[in-house]
Amino acid sequence: MKNIEALYSQPHESLFKLASKVKTPAIIYDYQGMKDVVRRIQDDLSLVENAKLNIAVKATHTPHLLGLYASWGLGCDVASIGEYHLAKRAGFKEITTTSPAYKKVDMEEFHREGITIDLDSLSQIELYGVKFPGTEIGLRIRIPLPEELESESTFGRDSRFGIDILNHKLPIILERYGLTVTRLHVHTGQMTPESLIYKAQYLLAIAEEFPDVHTIDYGGGLFHFYIDRIKTRRYLTLLNELILKWQSTHKRVLHTRFEPGGALLAGCGYLITSILSKEYQEFFRSEILTVDSSAWNLAPWHKPQVISLDTDAIETEKFLIAGNTLYEGDFFGKDTNGKMMTFELPKSIDVGANLLFTASGAYTMTNSRLFNRIPLPAEYLLKGEELVKIVRGHGSE
Ligand SMILES: Cc1ncc(COP(=O)(O)O)c(C=O)c1O
Repeated sequence: MKNIEALYSQPHESLFKLASKVKTPAIIYDYQGMKDVVRRIQDDLSLVENAKLNIAVKATHTPHLLGLYASWGLGCDVASIGEYHLAKRAGFKEITTTSPAYKKVDMEEFHREGITIDLDSLSQIELYGVKFPGTEIGLRIRIPLPEELESESTFGRDSRFGIDILNHKLPIILERYGLTVTRLHVHTGQMTPESLIYKAQYLLAIAEEFPDVHTIDYGGGLFHFYIDRIKTRRYLTLLNELILKWQSTHKRVLHTRFEPGGALLAGCGYLITSILSKEYQEFFRSEILTVDSSAWNLAPWHKPQVISLDTDAIETEKFLIAGNTLYEGDFFGKDTNGKMMTFELPKSIDVGANLLFTASGAYTMTNSRLFNRIPLPAEYLLKGEELVKIVRGHGSE
């Protein structure tokens, strides 16, 4: 077996020098790192016949970055007409879409543009069918993952999205409007190699019943999928075997899509922010570092690591890091249950020092809000040993 690289590359060492001088707050995207991840996932997906990598546009709306992904041969999935406009301008050749619910005008625009939409509920199929009888649709399917494949990061039975394929009204509505199903689409939160195979078996069985299905889209959530890349590749090979067998039994060709967001970009982006205050708070029994950006405005679900850019003193201490808004809950590294992370930093760290948060490339700008009008980070691309400022074109944030 060839030597398998890790999915992520280390950033060039110049990142830390450049980041310590940049005006804060800033996000730095590692160009080479982004390109390397794409190449590795594309290489892994080449183990599956007719499989292709798309990006979930919800992870970044920065036109320059979208343009890069399009130029590297990715397609994309969009969750709204607004994201579609960005994707089209970025030059993506293949664009799919799925959303909990579309307005009628959005359905009309997708239809005019020749984009087949993947619908999420019976009432949405009804709405679409009335408007466009006799056309093609995709279905977002709810997958009832068995308990052993569920975790805190998965959404199977507990997902609010997707159509229950066993709902007896589904065939009636499809027939009423003469709709043809051509794509099956799922996203179940974090995927594992084992859950991929479960989903494949579930979806291949559904595809048997829909003779016009030509594509199965497995969604994103590839962090857990990539915990062990050798295992990932083994399970992709297994997926390929399932598909080849299915194709030869049913004499039909199936295309496969994956559309991660976080796994492509999160690890390639760094938030640089500066400490504005350092204060011991008795209630928290901790020093709280307040920085010149906001977790509430930028990082509602991120679990980053932090690095001090100015001092590397050996003696360390655990700190809480707070954002600079008047929202009480504005702490970095808070999980969805409200539990807060502490961050280990040099004990002597003080006001004026710059911090670098990892895992900030995806969903940071697309989640951003302007509570208290804390300025949003400027965006930069680390190219070689240079920081190139990304000019925010129209249509971005
Ligand atoms: C349909 C769909 N595809 C892909 C994704 C991307 O997920 P991730 O960023 O975890 O890869 C999402 C995320 O919500 C999604 O809903």
